[in-house]
Amino acid sequence: MKQFSLIAGIRKELGKKANKGKSVGFVPTMGALHKGHLELVRRSVAENDITVCSIFVNPTQFNNKKDLELYPRNLQNDMKMLEDSGCDMVFTPEVSEMYPQGEEKVLDIDFGFLERTMEGKFRPGHFKGVATVVKKLFDIVEPHRAYFGMKDYQQLLIIRQLVEKLKIPVQIIPCPIVREADGLAMSSRNLRLTIGERTIAPHVFEVLDQARQKAGTMSVKELKKWTIKKIGENPELKVEYVEIVYSDTLIPVEKWDKKSNILALTAVYLGGVRLIDNLELFS
Ligand code: PAJ
Repeated sequence: MKQFSLIAGIRKELGKKANKGKSVGFVPTMGALHKGHLELVRRSVAENDITVCSIFVNPTQFNNKKDLELYPRNLQNDMKMLEDSGCDMVFTPEVSEMYPQGEEKVLDIDFGFLERTMEGKFRPGHFKGVATVVKKLFDIVEPHRAYFGMKDYQQLLIIRQLVEKLKIPVQIIPCPIVREADGLAMSSRNLRLTIGERTIAPHVFEVLDQARQKAGTMSVKELKKWTIKKIGENPELKVEYVEIVYSDTLIPVEKWDKKSNILALTAVYLGGVRLIDNLELFS
C-alpha cells in the first residue's frame, strides 16, 4: 500500500502507464477507521482494480470548532487496517494542500431542500463543506466508483446530487450501515463516549427498531412523537430531531404509503457526542 500526502504524488502514481485502463474505486474518509469504513474498502477492492482511500479531517464541514478539535485521529492504526483490507493507495493531505486559498473558499451549489433539512438545518454549512472536499477529491482521484455509507444517508443524497449537477463521471455506490453487536451504528465519534455512555448509546437504535415495528399501526405524526419521547426516556439522550421521510427526497411523510421507501432518521446528543442513525421503515 502506498501513502501520498501531496496531490501531485498521487496523481503521478494513478497516471502511471501500469495503471492506465484500470478501474479505480475510491473511499473518502476522515479516519479513525472502524469496520463500517472497512466494509466500504472491501467492497471497492472486490469491484475495482485499484482502491484508493483518503483520510482527511475536512475543516470546512465542521460547524462546531470543538467537534473539529476533538475529532479522533489515529493514523497509524488506520494505515494498518487499510493495508489489511487490501487498499492500494492512501491519500493523507494536510489542510493547506486541500485548501491552498484558505478554508473560506467553499463550493457554492444550491442543494435546495436536501441541505435545509435535518443535518443541514442543525449543522449550517456542513453539506457545502462536504460537497467542496468530495468534489476536490474526485478531481484528484478521478474514480470510476465511489463508496458511501448509508449511515450518513443525507450526505449520500447530497453527493448524488453533486455528481448529477456537475456531471462528474463517477458511479456512487451506497453501502449498508454496519452496526455493533448491540445495534449501535459504528462511528468514529463513538470513541469519544465514556464507558457509561457507551451502554446507553444502543438505545437509539433499539427505539428506531421498535418504531419500525409500529409503523403503520399509528399515524406518522404519532409515531414521530412516540419515537422522540421513547428515546428521551433516557435522560442522558437529548433528541435533536426525528424525521420520517421518503428515502429519495427526504420530504416528510404525512400518511403511510407501504409502496414507498420510507426512512426514520435521527440525531441525538449523548454527553458531548452527537449520534446519528437511520432505519428503513418500509421498503
Ligand atoms: P467519515 O465519517 O469518516 O465516513 C466515511 C464514509 O464511511 C462515509 O461514506 C460514511 O457514511 C461511511 N460510514 C461511516 N460509518 C459507517 C457505518 N457504521 N456503516 C457504513 N458506513 C459507514 O463521511 C465522512 O467521513 C466525510 O463527510 C467525507 C465523505 C469523507 C467528506 O469529508
